[in-house]
Amino acid sequence: MTKLSVLAAGLVFTGCASAHTIFQKLYVNGVDQGELTGIRAPDYDGPITDVTSNDIICNGGINPYHQPVSNAVISVPAGATVTAEWHHTLNQTANDPADPIDPGHKGPILSYLAKIPDATQSTVTGLQWFKIYEDGLTVSDGTWAVDRLVANKGKVSFQIPSCIASGQYLLRHEIIALHAASSYPGAQFYMECAQLNIVGGSGAKSPATVSFPGAYHGTDPGIKVDIYYPPLTNYTIPGPAVFSC
Ligand SMILES: *[C@@H]1O[C@H](CO)[C@@H](O)[C@H](O)[C@H]1NC(C)=O
Ligand SMILES: *[C@@H]1O[C@H](CO)[C@@H](O)[C@H](O)[C@H]1NC(C)=O
Repeated sequence: MTKLSVLAAGLVFTGCASAHTIFQKLYVNGVDQGELTGIRAPDYDGPITDVTSNDIICNGGINPYHQPVSNAVISVPAGATVTAEWHHTLNQTANDPADPIDPGHKGPILSYLAKIPDATQSTVTGLQWFKIYEDGLTVSDGTWAVDRLVANKGKVSFQIPSCIASGQYLLRHEIIALHAASSYPGAQFYMECAQLNIVGGSGAKSPATVSFPGAYHGTDPGIKVDIYYPPLTNYTIPGPAVFSC
């Protein structure tokens, strides 16, 4: 693409202000746990843009949660494959070109876990998070995690580590859309938290953790970034390294 067409593409994508998304269903080893079951999801599908806000933890502040919030806790065997499903809105209609998300909302997809005394408790400040999954830019063909999500009709799968302690956790699952991220604030953070009870974990390892807010900064190369020009030759996914057993 020429510089002009790249800029024009950027303008077009930046114009799509309302094509947002919500993580609203979880599958455990392929088994559908039900719409909004065990997930704290807002009715409004707009992003968080302030990485210092408590809304960056589990949403639900400026975008209040759909009521009543599910009090289900999803049982997940350690080592299981879970699949998160995203849609444009909670009231998804057929043939929506912006479902699961506007295809212009390019960026990475990330998942974190935090141990919590009670997965249904409303307080989510002060938790210690570790990253269990990330997918960013495939430089060789220019495709993003969001492109793969769109191709997969809103589904993204990843593994729950087998070596962590059993118990109650929150799963923080996130898309960062970078179409307007050339200045900060600009990157759009979409996240919801799912309430898990992880069973059968060996507890052999204790992951290093980070805080939300705190793990992200407006100056991070993966948060303040022009994804259109010049073409990216690398992309640094925000947050810590992925924990592995
Ligand atoms: C969307 O669906 C939720 C229930 O899932 C409902 O409470 C809400 O009113 C609906 N919103 C619209 C705009 O229909
Ligand atoms: C690409 O890598 C360089 C060198 O490590 C780094 O300075 C830069 O921030 C990276 N760019 C992105 C968008 O992550």
